[in-house]
Amino acid sequence: MRQNLRIPGPTPLPAQVQAAMHRDMIDHRGPEFANILNQCTESLKYFYCTKGDVLIFPASGTGGLEAAIVNTLSPRDPVLAVSIGVFGDRFAKIAETFGLDVRRVSIPKGRAVDPEQLRQALDENPDVKAVLITHNETSTGVTNPLKDLATIVKERNLLLLVDAVSSMGAIPVLTDEWGLDVVVSGSQKAWMIPPGMVMVSVSERAWQAVQAAKLPRYYWDFRAAKSSLEKGQTPYTPAVSLFYALEVALDLMMREGLEAIWERHAEAGAYTRNRIKEMGLELFADERYASNTVTAIKVPEGIDGKAFKNNLRDKHGVIVGGGQAELSGRIIRLGHLGYFTKEDISTACDAIQMELESLKVAP
Ligand SMILES: Cc1ncc(COP(=O)(O)O)c(C=O)c1O
Repeated sequence: MRQNLRIPGPTPLPAQVQAAMHRDMIDHRGPEFANILNQCTESLKYFYCTKGDVLIFPASGTGGLEAAIVNTLSPRDPVLAVSIGVFGDRFAKIAETFGLDVRRVSIPKGRAVDPEQLRQALDENPDVKAVLITHNETSTGVTNPLKDLATIVKERNLLLLVDAVSSMGAIPVLTDEWGLDVVVSGSQKAWMIPPGMVMVSVSERAWQAVQAAKLPRYYWDFRAAKSSLEKGQTPYTPAVSLFYALEVALDLMMREGLEAIWERHAEAGAYTRNRIKEMGLELFADERYASNTVTAIKVPEGIDGKAFKNNLRDKHGVIVGGGQAELSGRIIRLGHLGYFTKEDISTACDAIQMELESLKVAP
């Protein structure tokens, strides 16, 4: 049975990307690697919609969130962490771990941050230096209205650190236009390559914060990454095979075009939501903010969420994500990001429909 991997990352790999990783190693301090690094960095800037810097580290997305914090802040700095789910909580937790004075705004699961709520929280915490926000909360299938939220943060001239791990490269993130200071994305999502690489943009304002920041950092130091990049290198050994993959994936993305990619994800999101509702299932997310990269679906009363998910895998070859933390067993999450065809999404929806019907009639 063909596997239809519909978790919201790691996402399937195009054949060209898989083939690229068969290459032998090259000297990561030589001209060939410099060429790949420079090419990838330029293309990433295009997809990030930034003229600022984009740095690449070997890590999963969480490493990038830690890098954003340790590079821009100092111990006991007050920050506002706005969380709409598991990944927002993680961003706040990292900030706490590094001794920041974290003021949390927690929004009920399934909802997005209302810009007025953010304005109020900032009014109540006028001393915060930075705001931590998840753009697309993969655990609930919600996309925050980042442009509107960023406007409020920028009115106050604060630093804005964004987790765009499951949105960048799939849905619009206009880094410069929206005034986003540090934006983190991860290789295993829209970039269509395996896990293990994190991309981080750094604005002018963020560079000023980097100079002033006092939190200890070594491996993640943006200054070291930037000065190596100027020589066509990374400070420490890069994930060479992932660079081969990234070069090919970005080339495929360039050919498809930024807007066409956004459109493909928007269509997949709308299609999935319609199919789910037509089956009589409920979306977990507030539909106005439902994500175009992952759809969270409520498991109906009387159906065992874990069995539902396992049956999709074992009987139909469709692998979906389960609920995380308190949503375990209560939702399933269908990923539609990165490399997928319309058929991948429609057959996954067909499988959900068949399974739902079989579970309903089961005694
Ligand atoms: C929104 C979001 N933030 C951060 C992460 C980082 O997680 P990881 O370190 O597992 O890549 C993920 C991964 O699923 C994510 O979806």
